[in-house]
Amino acid sequence: MRLLITAGPTREAIDPVRFLTNRSSGKMGYALAETAVAKGHEVILISGPVNLEAPTGLAELVSIESAREMFEAVRDRIDGCEAAIFCAAVADYRPVNSPDRKIKKTEDSLTLELEKTEDILGSARSGFGFSGILVGFAAETHDLAKYASGKLEKKGCDLVVANDVSRRDIGFDTDRNEVQLFFADGRRETLPVQTKAGIGQKLVEIIEGLVKGQR
Ligand code: CTP
Repeated sequence: MRLLITAGPTREAIDPVRFLTNRSSGKMGYALAETAVAKGHEVILISGPVNLEAPTGLAELVSIESAREMFEAVRDRIDGCEAAIFCAAVADYRPVNSPDRKIKKTEDSLTLELEKTEDILGSARSGFGFSGILVGFAAETHDLAKYASGKLEKKGCDLVVANDVSRRDIGFDTDRNEVQLFFADGRRETLPVQTKAGIGQKLVEIIEGLVKGQR
């Protein structure tokens, strides 16, 4: 199958030398891409800046920095994919102004005005007309089930993969993860703590099943 995966953080410029970002390492998305390639799938990986080696055998690796660039990369490539997995930790806000010249510390305080970035996952159905299997991720510190099921419905996902980022032993910037799966048909499943490679393998199998069910 042809698969699009987004991974890693984005960087939103404050000025030419500074940016806003988050703690995403990209490990989960890269683990998914690696498993999918090993299973013979055609994988387009759209990635923010990470310290990881890209799996060999990708159909395409698109390196981006900002949420806007990730949005455009997905928009231009999602057509024809049977599944799209939105693993990236996309910045929700970016500075409204990003001057060409470095901001000097002339003032005692500095207020950054932020505006919402493009909601890439939220654009998949309505904006890009994507009709394949849509998988979103949800990183929550509280009320995980409530937010994950809300996301499932609001964004038109077939599956939301949720993890609890208030736990320090799993998730962001670690090698291990535990995730809860929320399916569009109401099913729920927990993949207990294991390596991100292990989670990646199970998720690819589950997504293969969803794609088969849709054919
Ligand atoms: N996502 C995206 N584009 C954005 C923000 C997030 O595609 N601008 C995707 C992520 O890749 C992930 C999912 O959306 O699959 C996360 O959902 P979102 O509702 O944005 O999560 P939060 O940012 O945690 O939302 P909230 O602030 O409502 O908790």
